[in-house]
Amino acid sequence: MKNISCNSWGGIDKLSLAYTTKPSRSLFGEVSVPGDKSISHRALIFSALADGKSHITGLNSGDDLVRSVNALKNLGVKINWHGSNTCIVNGVGDKGFSQPRQPIDFGNSGTSARLFIGALASQPINVRMLGDESLQRRPMRRVTKPLESMGALFCDTQSHRLPLAMTGSKLRGLSYRLPMPSAQVKSAILIAGLKADGETEVIEPIQTRDHTERMLQHYGAELDIIREQDCSFIRIRGGQSLRAADFEVPGDPSAAMFIAAAALIVPGSEIIIKNVCWNPTRCAAFQVLKQMGADIEVTNHKAFSGEEAVDLRVKYSTLRGVCTLPENSAILIDEFPILAILAAFANGDTRLSNLRELRFKESDRFAAIVKGLRACGVLVSVEGEDIIVHGRGPEEVSGMAMIDSQSDHRIAMSFIILGLASHHPVTVRDIQMIATSFPLFLKSLKNLGAMIKNT
Ligand code: S3P
Repeated sequence: MKNISCNSWGGIDKLSLAYTTKPSRSLFGEVSVPGDKSISHRALIFSALADGKSHITGLNSGDDLVRSVNALKNLGVKINWHGSNTCIVNGVGDKGFSQPRQPIDFGNSGTSARLFIGALASQPINVRMLGDESLQRRPMRRVTKPLESMGALFCDTQSHRLPLAMTGSKLRGLSYRLPMPSAQVKSAILIAGLKADGETEVIEPIQTRDHTERMLQHYGAELDIIREQDCSFIRIRGGQSLRAADFEVPGDPSAAMFIAAAALIVPGSEIIIKNVCWNPTRCAAFQVLKQMGADIEVTNHKAFSGEEAVDLRVKYSTLRGVCTLPENSAILIDEFPILAILAAFANGDTRLSNLRELRFKESDRFAAIVKGLRACGVLVSVEGEDIIVHGRGPEEVSGMAMIDSQSDHRIAMSFIILGLASHHPVTVRDIQMIATSFPLFLKSLKNLGAMIKNT
């Protein structure tokens, strides 16, 4: 089998404005996906806050991570690179970050923005934070409000959107029940809580990804985590320092889902995806695929740096419709666009439940999924916060559409995958944002045999 690596800072695909897919011949090969994006941001931030040198391997190489790296450099953190995905971060420890010489620009990266806001709230510096058009539209009140209750000082927060300015201040602990399921909000509060007076508690009624909890412990922080049936309590004592730690970032399961989806819908395909993060709060979409009848073999379990990873062998499968559980919506959040595509190729209805949060992503993904699928000839209905895809099997997915990605990496990748197995070609416009998370996405697909051309 061919071995294709998608992990490289240097080898970013040249992503021009539009790509057209053609119904493809079978896809074959072995592929490794980029390092997990959520874990990569946290590994950089926690290593930077820690005392001493941390060695990180397997980092995601997308533009979103470049934003976190540049933010840290701007805050006086020294990072030495060894190859494209490995670095040594010289943590600032209790000395703290330095006054940045220019505003911090988070580009398209919501995770960078929200996690850094939590990390900066207690640092005695003034920071101005910027974002691109999409990030400027995204709600920041969900982090500024609880952080203000902890004593954080924001200037001009009327709009609660970027650009935002903040002055680091003394923080106090807080008990906060998350009003929306968000790992970014939970993480911002816990990171701020690390340096607050007293204890900070986040009450989480709906489980979200738990990398922050796992990784803070990996970097030496003490957390108290109580998981009850209807909610979790995560408590962190203030005044703790992080210790440098080595970290190996596993492959991104959200990126792996796109490749797996291609194998599932292109007849005759068989693909092996190496080293995929297998954290239960991240791999729920693969359990949904199994319920849909997907032929996926999970092998080679490994555990490192407080996370688990596996290899996946995915074969073309006949899929059937399913219902996702409303309480699983947060742990499926990044996978809904590609699950909706797979549902179009399935036999029977698929109900994707409780999708409200999809409206606040890089684009309004709720609207983009419905509009894009309808343009491709797929029957879709909306009931409240649910999307129902009326799958009638592969024959009914016409394609023959021009999809506007809304400058959203996951919408662009989802419809490129649809076009690999639809009757007619699909053109996806404005796909350069794929580089935020999966720079070598197109190249990997082409190497596996996909028919995609620049138009
Ligand atoms: C992320 C959490 C999720 C997810 C995003 C990454 C994280 O966002 O959609 O891609 O790394 O914490 P929310 O927590 O806002 O739902």
